[in-house]
Amino acid sequence: QAALPKGYSIRPLANDDYERGFLDVLSVLTVIGDISKAQFLERFHYLKAHNHEYFTLVIVSPEDRIVGAGTIFVERKFIRNTGLVGHIEDIAVDKNQQGKKLGLRIIEALKYIGAQTGCYKVILDCSKQNIPFYEKCGFTQKEYEMAWYC
Ligand code: ACO
Repeated sequence: QAALPKGYSIRPLANDDYERGFLDVLSVLTVIGDISKAQFLERFHYLKAHNHEYFTLVIVSPEDRIVGAGTIFVERKFIRNTGLVGHIEDIAVDKNQQGKKLGLRIIEALKYIGAQTGCYKVILDCSKQNIPFYEKCGFTQKEYEMAWYC
């Protein structure tokens, strides 16, 4: 298991992480939009009410700022004898903090949650350039992603 650098910690997303820069970290992924604290809290409380299937983790720096984040969503299926599949989503590490194994640490923690909740597999979609990162995290390439934008 990758150790976090000294002074860093990993924990579930908290209701005051809006002030710690959680959304700024997500902005390395895509356009975030102008999300108000009320919007953040509405989504936070939804996830909390569904905390048997949504797990969002964050990494906190020694300065008490969010510097990394990631989510696993546990999908309930009929196939595989009503099996569970974990979907890893929105892995993000602050630009200035990349390369310190924070991403690897988030993925390890999310894989652990997937295994502990009984998933038979954990999957994710990523760009070609991120394939080596996910291979280092123990994933192998399978299938193709299809998308349809509404
Ligand atoms: N190409 C090759 N190797 C890589 C890459 C890359 N693009 N990124 C990381 N690695 C390697 C590292 O060198 C390291 O290897 P080592 O163990 O041999 O030293 C290993 O992967 C672990 O790297 P970390 O330091 O844990 O990576 P980092 O903390 O920088 O996080 C991440 C990687 C999450 C991809 C980060 O760069 C990031 O936030 N990028 C922008 C957003 C993004 O693309 N997120 C993923 C979207 S896909 C999804 O969310 C399912």
